[in-house]
Amino acid sequence: MDLELDGNAALVTASSSGLGFASAAALAREGADVTICGRDEDRLDDARDRLEAEAAGEVLAVPADLTDPDDVAALVDATVEAFGGLDHLVTSAGGPPSTTFLETSGRQWYEAYDLLVMSVVWTVESAHPHLLESDDGSIVCITSRTVREVADGLLLSNAVRRAVIGLVKTLSREFAPEIRANAVLPGTIETPRIEELIEARVARGSYADYDEGLAEMAADIPMERIGDPRELGEVVAFLSSPRASYVTGAEVPIDGGSLRS
Ligand SMILES: NC(=O)c1ccc[n+]([C@@H]2O[C@H](COP(=O)([O-])OP(=O)(O)OC[C@H]3O[C@@H](n4cnc5c(N)ncnc54)[C@H](OP(=O)(O)O)[C@@H]3O)[C@@H](O)[C@H]2O)c1
Repeated sequence: MDLELDGNAALVTASSSGLGFASAAALAREGADVTICGRDEDRLDDARDRLEAEAAGEVLAVPADLTDPDDVAALVDATVEAFGGLDHLVTSAGGPPSTTFLETSGRQWYEAYDLLVMSVVWTVESAHPHLLESDDGSIVCITSRTVREVADGLLLSNAVRRAVIGLVKTLSREFAPEIRANAVLPGTIETPRIEELIEARVARGSYADYDEGLAEMAADIPMERIGDPRELGEVVAFLSSPRASYVTGAEVPIDGGSLRS
């Protein structure tokens, strides 16, 4: 299936690694011009090089901290200047720390809100006038399966991310019919973040080795394995594309069937 993304312009946030990178790569393989961002410039440059190796279109890498509204405005401006417009916005972010309620400080609540919610607010605010000019305007927000089913030790993800779902649902109504807005809900996907988590548990003695960690994480997943980032990126590219022209306000789990409702 041709996703009809050739020549369209896409901005993917938090995309020098992991789920954002995989989404940018899928859009780039389909011919979209893609902007990626992150804070660490070396990691960002390396990601741009890897993307250029498989991209059919242009790749732009812009250093930006998503918790800084000025950085976000400059990121959108740079995209529009380079590609002549913006058709597709995909939002990701870093992950909040793993904590329980009693060990979480007030500051951590605000930091998680800035990172997970306000980063999306700033990006949508800056991107909106450009998405409106596109014939194919779309927004896809990468959240987590925790918006449906809480995970132990992930208080901030469990609680704060639900605001993004409320935001996406509202945008899908306020911005229709010109701009579609959807969310994807990843389960466990083997990104550097998950690799670090498994390595940390191996170091603490919770798992004998990396493979045991992978097997433990996959234990409750009907597909019997954790996900590959490419499997998420391709769903994001489809939802971004005009081929998903009647899909808006959807929450799409990409979790190997692990959600029970
Ligand atoms: N992987 C999974 O299984 C999974 C499942 C559910 C939800 N999630 C969530 O999905 C998101 C992405 O996870 P991932 O696995 O892709 O993580 P990752 O591989 O660690 O990638 C995170 C990306 O975000 C960037 N980033 C972090 N903070 C940023 C900031 N303030 N401004 C700009 N860029 C920032 C990082 O670059 P810099 O550090 O250089 O800025 C990096 O490019 C997280 O919120 C995570 O909790 C992941």
